[in-house]
Amino acid sequence: MQGVDPVRDVDPAWLPDEAFRPIGTRRTLIRGAGPLVDTVHGEVAGACERFGGRVERDAAPGPFDLVLELAGEDSPEAFTCERNGGCTTVTASGQRGLLYGLFHVVRLGESAFLGQRQRERHAPALDLRMLDHWDNVAVHPVMGQVERGYAGGSLFWEDGRARGELLGRVRAYGRLLAACGINAVTVNNVNVHKTEAHLLTDRIDEVADISRELGRYGIRTHLSVTFAAPMVLGGLPTADPLDEAVQAWWSEATSRVYEAIPGFGGYVVKADSEGQPGPFAYGRSHADGANLLAGALTPYNGTVHWRAFVYDHRQDWRDRTTDRARAAYDHFVPLDGQFAPNVILQVKHGPMDFQVREPVSPLIGAMPRTRLAVETQATQEYTGQQRHVCWLGPMWSEVLRFRPEEGAPVGELARGGLVAVSNVGDDPFWTGHPLAQANLYTFGRLAWQPDANPYRLLDEWIRLTFTPRRSEESARLEAGVYAVLAHSWRTYEKYTAPLGVGWMVQPDHHYGPSVDGYEYSPWGTYHFADRDGIGVDRSVATGTGYAGQYAKPWAEVYESPTTCPDELLLFFHHVSYDHVLRSGKTVIQHMYDTHFEGVEEVEAAQRVWQGLSDLVDPARHARVAERFEEQLRSAREWRDQINSYFFRKSGVADAHGRRIY
Ligand code: GCU
Repeated sequence: MQGVDPVRDVDPAWLPDEAFRPIGTRRTLIRGAGPLVDTVHGEVAGACERFGGRVERDAAPGPFDLVLELAGEDSPEAFTCERNGGCTTVTASGQRGLLYGLFHVVRLGESAFLGQRQRERHAPALDLRMLDHWDNVAVHPVMGQVERGYAGGSLFWEDGRARGELLGRVRAYGRLLAACGINAVTVNNVNVHKTEAHLLTDRIDEVADISRELGRYGIRTHLSVTFAAPMVLGGLPTADPLDEAVQAWWSEATSRVYEAIPGFGGYVVKADSEGQPGPFAYGRSHADGANLLAGALTPYNGTVHWRAFVYDHRQDWRDRTTDRARAAYDHFVPLDGQFAPNVILQVKHGPMDFQVREPVSPLIGAMPRTRLAVETQATQEYTGQQRHVCWLGPMWSEVLRFRPEEGAPVGELARGGLVAVSNVGDDPFWTGHPLAQANLYTFGRLAWQPDANPYRLLDEWIRLTFTPRRSEESARLEAGVYAVLAHSWRTYEKYTAPLGVGWMVQPDHHYGPSVDGYEYSPWGTYHFADRDGIGVDRSVATGTGYAGQYAKPWAEVYESPTTCPDELLLFFHHVSYDHVLRSGKTVIQHMYDTHFEGVEEVEAAQRVWQGLSDLVDPARHARVAERFEEQLRSAREWRDQINSYFFRKSGVADAHGRRIY
């Protein structure tokens, strides 16, 4: 964008200067030493400069309002917060804990400095809270700079190089991420193309530059690597994981990575998936493949994130015995117990691919001897591509609270952490759609506390992000933004994919409706709609058997259309259009009703947003208003195509006689 300074002219997101006023007007003492303590000091000093307060380091106890100190405690990321005798004290044993403690005080705002506060301990439930950037170094002829990116170019790479002039922006990004609890970032696409393969070896210095900036906010850097690296980069004749020369190559390459980046996090690998190379070529298992890289990383405490997204993407649509939903479980459950301790199996939260509604992957909970990380998608590939408002907090929260059996919820079973595909690019609003920042923020906070109430996190994000000019305006502002976002995922679901069916999108780019776009394709993505009914029979009794991959009680719940939750009915069953849902409506009437409602809800949200024009920063307001135009156009398109298609297929008229084409 012309005339825009890419570092300074960016949206402050959830860290506007105003959020630091309560700290910046007071007296703060900082105790402890180290680079992240310097960061904490820099934050407080900056706030004091803006607001007239005072900060001291390692001074004697005195009349301070806030003390941030490194002491005692027992974990690198935890902190305690209390308030006695007019002083708020944050204590942490680790520097990262101190940084998170500072941002906790920012979130509390004025209330951090009022009354008494009992000592409270805060610690993340999950050690790894990571964003994966699907960024390409070189612009890919089909996917562009960022695969599935809807926020401009890459934050890290441009024209084939690391964006040197933008490192300040990378630092600002790290700051935002730390403020919502994220502690790891993968800087390149899981599909590792030719140029990107070199980041591991001769271009590692560019990764080191990025890593240095992110490290200022306690964020570790990870790299996506190709399994074929020993051949592509090392000139070896094979990448066989059991070959000694291959093992030696990985050890050597990894030692150089750690020379360049001492705090490096590890590798992310997409193997034998959608054309990426992997151990199958050598007749080896995915445990062999993952353990090869784990071995190279062990001396440095690095981890391998090995993705479980392995399925047949060249399926014959005529073949009804192969079910893509089964694939991850079928491939990986037999390997439970065979992975090295520093392997993390990274599992997409649903069995397919980030559709607006999927059941929770049956793999989660089925591999007790393997560390699993759950992968979500903040980038809105199938949920409106950051042109539609679609706050995913409730969806992620449902996933994290789901109990695969009567035991721990997903949020606890994800011992390897929570990962999201990032929705950030070089757009001045970070995420293209300013309201999509709520997804990034909510993701970080849920990764810290998976059982948090997502709606409270939304409140938190709104209060931080939107500063009212006058305090009496805050209630209208906050209620308005909340109304636009809180139910937006359900709204999106209503006007797009009914009852868990999925995939009715335009092929390749995945934006907009195309009911049969993926129906006769090799991707394993079918809805089987005909004149009588729709849905995929995944029951054990008559279908693909997928429902049987769940533990009880879910295997039984999903097995029968009478017990299967409505919102997943068509994922698990093929039923007739007049099948009566648990809600009492027929399937076809539900489709019509939700598609009309969905559009009405978008219209209502747009009106609410218009009504906030006097309260929201003009640039932000304009960007959202512009996106709402497109969302409404697209929602109407979805409504009319889906309703017309199923009206024509089924011949069943709308009970309310509304217009269907
Ligand atoms: C989806 C997405 C791809 C991506 C893949 C993955 O299929 O459309 O762009 O590469 O997921 O997660 O690896």
